[in-house]
Amino acid sequence: MPDISARLARLRRELEEHNRRYYDEAAPTVSDAEYDALFRELQTLEAAHPELITPDSPTQRVGGTPSDRFERVTHLEPMLSLEKINGADHPDEKEEPDREMRSRLQDENTLPLLRTFDATVRKYVGGNRFEYVMEPKVDGVSIGVHYRHGLLALGVTRGDGQTGDDITANLRTIRSIPLSLNLKNPPALLEVRGEAYIATNDFEKLNARMEAAGEKPFPNARNATAGALKQLDPKLVARRPIRAVFYAVGACEGIEFGTHAETLKSLADFGLPTQQKWWLCQDIEEVLERYRDEVVCHYDEDHDLRRKLPYEIDGIVIKVNRIADWRRIPMKARAPGYAIVHKPIPWITPAETVLKAITVQVGRTGVLTPVAELEPVFVQGSTVSRATLHNEDEIRRKRIHIGDTVVVRKAGMVIPEVVGVVKSNQSSAVEEFDLFVHVGGKCPACGGTIAKEKFSGSEKEEVAWRCQNIAGCPAQKTRRIEYFAQRKALDIESLGGIVAEKLVERGLVDEPLGLFDLDIERLGKLNLGTGDEPRMFGEKNAAKVIEALKRARTLPLNRWILALAIPEIGEETARDLARFHDSMEQIAQSVAVRDVVELDRLNREALRVSPDTDANKSKPKEERDAMRIQCKELRREADSLGARLLASGFAKSGAGVKSHPRDAVVTVGPVAAKATLAWFESDVGRKVLSTLGTLGIAPQSQREKAAKDSSFAGKTFVLTGSLSSMTRGKASEEIRARGGDVTGAVTKKTDYVIAGENPGSKLDDANALGVPLLDEQQFLALLGGNAGHEPRAPAQPDLF
Ligand code: IVH
Repeated sequence: MPDISARLARLRRELEEHNRRYYDEAAPTVSDAEYDALFRELQTLEAAHPELITPDSPTQRVGGTPSDRFERVTHLEPMLSLEKINGADHPDEKEEPDREMRSRLQDENTLPLLRTFDATVRKYVGGNRFEYVMEPKVDGVSIGVHYRHGLLALGVTRGDGQTGDDITANLRTIRSIPLSLNLKNPPALLEVRGEAYIATNDFEKLNARMEAAGEKPFPNARNATAGALKQLDPKLVARRPIRAVFYAVGACEGIEFGTHAETLKSLADFGLPTQQKWWLCQDIEEVLERYRDEVVCHYDEDHDLRRKLPYEIDGIVIKVNRIADWRRIPMKARAPGYAIVHKPIPWITPAETVLKAITVQVGRTGVLTPVAELEPVFVQGSTVSRATLHNEDEIRRKRIHIGDTVVVRKAGMVIPEVVGVVKSNQSSAVEEFDLFVHVGGKCPACGGTIAKEKFSGSEKEEVAWRCQNIAGCPAQKTRRIEYFAQRKALDIESLGGIVAEKLVERGLVDEPLGLFDLDIERLGKLNLGTGDEPRMFGEKNAAKVIEALKRARTLPLNRWILALAIPEIGEETARDLARFHDSMEQIAQSVAVRDVVELDRLNREALRVSPDTDANKSKPKEERDAMRIQCKELRREADSLGARLLASGFAKSGAGVKSHPRDAVVTVGPVAAKATLAWFESDVGRKVLSTLGTLGIAPQSQREKAAKDSSFAGKTFVLTGSLSSMTRGKASEEIRARGGDVTGAVTKKTDYVIAGENPGSKLDDANALGVPLLDEQQFLALLGGNAGHEPRAPAQPDLF
């Protein structure tokens, strides 16, 4: 037996080493046949001694069974995004910038932006020179992989940054992700963050295979990766050539890193794949120099990083090297302050192809968008056969006609767009493109009237034509259902695209709330195919949708607000509205929202009659005196409204030292506030409210939930040191679940610092700023879960 154990261990080690050489270093030392022979030997030995199979054996990669759906997991540390800094594209969009111009634009636009970032870092951290790490931003799919005591324990997607999907079984099939860390004394927990991707040459082979099999090729490698990771059957994932690289650490226990460069080196030492190219720069000047010469090198494309990497990248990340400095730099909305990403001006020559036809798409709000139907062409890493033409004015300005040879590129490196014409098949005297004529004066989806609407409060017309048949247009209905079901809103999987379209086409659903009238039987019989070739949706899929709809009934209010597609209300505003209201009815009646609109009106009016503006300064004295009185009166009113908003918490005081209540910074801006009120007063809004009532749908009020735990609601916490009763991730989760916020750095705005064992310098920051401290027992008491612990006298009398 010991012999067999030893042989098994050796085989496993060897196979993983070969995996690493093959996938990380692209330098295999054995042939495929030799590898297979080792693998088979391991399989045979394990089959004879199943008691000796270990979870990190290479044979166990495809061990998972297909599941019905992925489990949702809360990230122990949120998965943030990166703030983009983009230099101006190029002044004249009609022409692609040539090499020289790109080089100049880079010198004049991009490089100074990097200096600005350095200035921000210096301002917050103090000091003159900072080390930075510069690394490529891999264009893949974000993943987090947890190693507990050195063994792969969990793999998650980014999801919405707070929660993601448990895709452990799928990630185990990726051979470049080690099943165990190469570490003698592995830490209790190490979560590594990185990107799953398909290498450019593997992607081309994959697409060639798909095409040979008569299947539709993937538009790009990221898409193919994302699609694969969403598969519920790990065996299907194993068939795609997915790899991974890691570039950051998420949650960890029992291990710490001093600098980002050290993190990258350690990850590689632990046997994890990391990027081949990254630069540790002594200061911002070195960053600029290397950026210009080695990274985005416009004057010599052979030197450019994008030619050298085996995968697609969509930017360059610059990170402050010293991790202790990170917490001093304030966070952006969803991105840390210590890093930025720059998307370079593309140098890949845009592709040329023939514009075969122009079709017109109808969006959720009825906007008609012209779309170029192209002879398929390879652009910046993917085959493109459709591209946006934006709107009628753009087509005219670029003098585009059907049959022309056009230039196609990817806007922001993602969305294909037609940039201009290379060779026109028509004389320049030919008629301009006219969208109205093109669609025969009717909506292509419903045949309804189309019109250009006026901007609110002005005579100016919008550029876009819109279908006016808001309630009846099937395209608008479909888009509204898709919007309602999208992940950020009510997360009803499989209601995208074709299903929504067919539900509308077959007359089963007319508006999103109509989904709640569906039953498994009717939905199961939905024909997604044609009359001749029917393809049923099926009872199993139907049951999943019905289940998701059931769950949706009690989802938080903010998701519902977003789902209803109120004009001007995005994710952030929906969240803000939900923080201050308990129900849809409350928003419809909201005094605060009305106050925002009124405050804006008063402030504008006061400005209009102010005797001190340039426009009014030249008016006669009497008139100006009268204006002064009027202005004062308006400001007085605005101040009292502002004060009310401040008292309600729906606004914060302005930034100035002598800020007046009328300058209050409102949580929800006047445009969104106006649009919200208008929507609730409209026929659509009224109908939605009454239908919600009839259906008995009551979105969960976060405020009520949070109010149950007023110690946490709306408060900001910072954790330092370790807690004996739970991990910091768990502590964060508990705080967030009660409506509190957890941030990384102590500022004046921090309400409490929770200090565990061996607290870091955050404790000093808290003391310096006078932020109240909680020890573990006090924190547990606040959580309400401390059986037997007597809370110590609070550090601050007003704590509880
Ligand atoms: S650092 C807190 N480094 O880009 C910042 N991200 O927009 C953590 N990404 O979802 C990210 N390459 O998945 C970092 N070298 C790199 C990256 C990278 C790709 C992705 C990441 C994140 C997104 C941010």
